Amino acid sequence: MKKCVMTIIVVTIVTAAFGGSVRAQDVDNGKKIFMKLCIACHYPPNDERNWFGPSLHGIVNRRSAQYKDYSYSAAMKNSNIIWTEENLDKFIKSPDITVPGTKMDCVGISTPKDRADIISYLNDNVN
Ligand code: HEC
Repeated sequence: MKKCVMTIIVVTIVTAAFGGSVRAQDVDNGKKIFMKLCIACHYPPNDERNWFGPSLHGIVNRRSAQYKDYSYSAAMKNSNIIWTEENLDKFIKSPDITVPGTKMDCVGISTPKDRADIISYLNDNVN
C-alpha cells in the first residue's frame, strides 16, 4: 500500500517537472508522424540531402522551391509561397489544392493537431 502512494507521488513530481514542456511532446509526436507519413519521400529535416522530395532542412519561413539541387515542378516553382507555419499547415492539409499540379502527390493530413505537431518538428529540427 505504501508503495502505491510512493508511485503516485513520483508520478506527480514527474508530471510537475515536465508539465511545462508541452512543446517538446508536440515535437516528439510530430517526429513520429513524420517518420510514418513523410519519410517515404523526405529525409528528416536535420538532413540536408534531397530524396524523392526536397530536403526540408530549414523549411519554415523559406520561399517555396528554393532547396539547392532539387528539381521542383513548375507548379512549385511558380507558387511563390513563403512557408510560414500557416502556409505549411495548408499545404500539409491538402497539397494539391494549395499548390495545384505539385509533384507531392499525397493525401493531406486532416487532423489539425497532427499538422501542428509536424510543423513544430520541422521548426525544431534544423540543426
Ligand atoms: C509521395 C512522396 C511524398 C510524401 C509522402 C511527402 N512529400 Fe513533401 N514533397 C514531395 C515532392 C516530390 C515535393 C516537391 C514538389 C514539387 O516540386 O511540386 C515535396 C515538397 C514538399 C514541400 C515544399 C518544399 C520546398 O522546398 O518548397 C514541403 C514543405 C513538404 N513537401 C512537406 C512534406 C511533409 C511535411 C510530408 C509528410 C506529412 C510530406 N511532404 C510528404 C514528395 C512527398
